Amino acid sequence: MPKPRVLATRALFPEARKILDAACDVEYIATAERPSRADVLRRVKDKEALICLLTDKVNDELLRNAPKLRIVSNVAVGFDNIDVPACTKRGVVATNTPGVLDETTADFAWTLMMAVARRIGEGEALARSGKWTGWDLDQLVGADVWDKTLGVVGFGRIGRAMARRASGFQMKVLYTDAQRVAEDVEQALHAEFRDFDSLLAESDYVSVHVPLTPETQGMFSSPKFFRMKPTAFFINTSRGAVVDEAGLVAALEAGKIAGAGLDVYENEPFILPGLKRPNVVLAPHIASASLETRTKMACIAAENVTALFRGQRPPNMLNPEVLNGK
Ligand code: DGY
Repeated sequence: MPKPRVLATRALFPEARKILDAACDVEYIATAERPSRADVLRRVKDKEALICLLTDKVNDELLRNAPKLRIVSNVAVGFDNIDVPACTKRGVVATNTPGVLDETTADFAWTLMMAVARRIGEGEALARSGKWTGWDLDQLVGADVWDKTLGVVGFGRIGRAMARRASGFQMKVLYTDAQRVAEDVEQALHAEFRDFDSLLAESDYVSVHVPLTPETQGMFSSPKFFRMKPTAFFINTSRGAVVDEAGLVAALEAGKIAGAGLDVYENEPFILPGLKRPNVVLAPHIASASLETRTKMACIAAENVTALFRGQRPPNMLNPEVLNGK
């Protein structure tokens, strides 16, 4: 029996390759290759599975081009790069990698928060510049994090991991979400619910943890930033398109907020020049990038594929209805 043919748009990690290679005939695209769209379309044509990244757009064009495809396995929790209804229409299973990157992503949101509050980017540049003249009383003074108010927008797994860390810093925690969470969850995390506007007005740090959906796209518009305290910081490790970046730049320019820590951008890898300011810490979409977590993500993506070919339901299906009755 021939093994199912799989295209992985990256080399993945050895642990994930071991899972895949035992069950499938896999064509890996070397990471250094950075495949073009045309390349992916050409190579996926005869494949039954695609393991892809959030930079690979899985839309009708790709699906039409790959008639044998049975599963699209995203190596990411976010799946705004995948047209899930289009997959469903063609009976293609779509999967993601939830649950393994929450703590690592929350660690990184905290890294950005602390970095922008304590002016790490500016401090590091000065320390390396050869121009540092020594300790001074008012040199690179920043803002405290401890004892301040953290506002978490989106109180799912990552938002809660963010909140959990705040108790060690004696922070007050506010959160907002489409729905209020159970009282015992609020109590365990010492978190208070606020509507979006009140959270913006009360928080010293606003950290975003929502998925990109039609409802969240552009939810941080200019008027929202103008509601924040002029001493407050905005942190985003979710998706760039939840922010109207021109509005963010306008708020920064007008001194309506104190700064920002960003890992994600509206049109990656392009970064709006107006965001490249001393009071903005910029990272290149690496919040989940610890070796442990990225390895787990790749393994889960591999297991989603091998489960399907074993005749099982993949553990992380985004469109479970595709296999109903099968
Ligand atoms: C995701 O998984 O959606 C992140 O953006 C990359 O880890």
